[in-house]
This record gives sequence, structure tokens and C-alpha cells, in this order.
Amino acid sequence: MNIQIINGPNLNLLGIREKSIYGDTGFDKYLDELRILYSNLTIHYFQSNVEGEIINKLHEIGFSYDGIILNAGAYTHTSVAIADAIAGINTPVVEVHISNVYKREEFRHTSMLARNCKGVIAGFGLDSYRLAVESLIVNV
Ligand code: DQA
Repeated sequence: MNIQIINGPNLNLLGIREKSIYGDTGFDKYLDELRILYSNLTIHYFQSNVEGEIINKLHEIGFSYDGIILNAGAYTHTSVAIADAIAGINTPVVEVHISNVYKREEFRHTSMLARNCKGVIAGFGLDSYRLAVESLIVNV
């Protein structure tokens, strides 16, 4: 099974950025652990700070992979273009957030993407990604 994780803007700074919100573990370390935990799956990883590159990745893998875990960062709250890309592909997308966006500023309470996603997981720290993997392997 091919699972793609896509992290959007500023998520390359995990472990460095706003540690009280996002924790002090870098994503590479977490990804190593996740790949060990799910050694039966192929977990691909892509990060970009550029909206169009995220859209291109969705198009590239969105007709052949089994599941996509997308943390679009701040684009979650603004991007009609990413929402349209999700609507246009076949592979199910799970929207993920590390923080509980509903406990934070009001502008983070709106997702442009959620209606086109299979589901949304938010607020469990990096464990949100593992929960998203679970949701994909149970239901695909
Ligand atoms: C985030 C929440 C977003 O509001 C924020 O812009 C991020 C990270 C999260 O994982 O909690 O960059 O998606």
C-alpha cells in the first residue's frame, strides 16, 4: 500500500518552530518511527512551502496511491486551489493538524479543504499522522 504524507508551509520547521504548540520533535525523526511501525506500508513523504507544488504532488499521486495524509498548514484556511485539487483526484485524503486548531485563533477554525476530504484529525500532536494512517488502512 502506498501512503503519501504531504506537509505544507512552515512544517519543515517542526522541532524548531513554536515548540509550545508543535512540540520539539523534527518530522524526519517522527517519520522514521512511523515507517518502522508500519513496515508493511510504503510511506512516501513530501514537504513544500509552495501552494502549486502541493497541488502538483496531489495530481501526480492522486490517481494511483491508496491514501494521502495532508497537513496543508495555513493553506488549509485559505486555499480554494488545494480544495479543488483534492476534489479532482481519486485517492482519499485525510486532513491532519498537529495542534487543535479549534482551540486557537478563529481564522484557524475554518478549513477550505475538509469538505473534500475523507475526514479530519486535529490536536493529537504528531500522533495525528499515525491516527490518519490508521483511518486509511482500516477503510481503504
Ligand atoms: C497546522 C495548523 C495551521 O493553522 C497552521 O497554519 C500550521 C500547522 C497544524 O498542524 O496544527 O502551519 O496545520
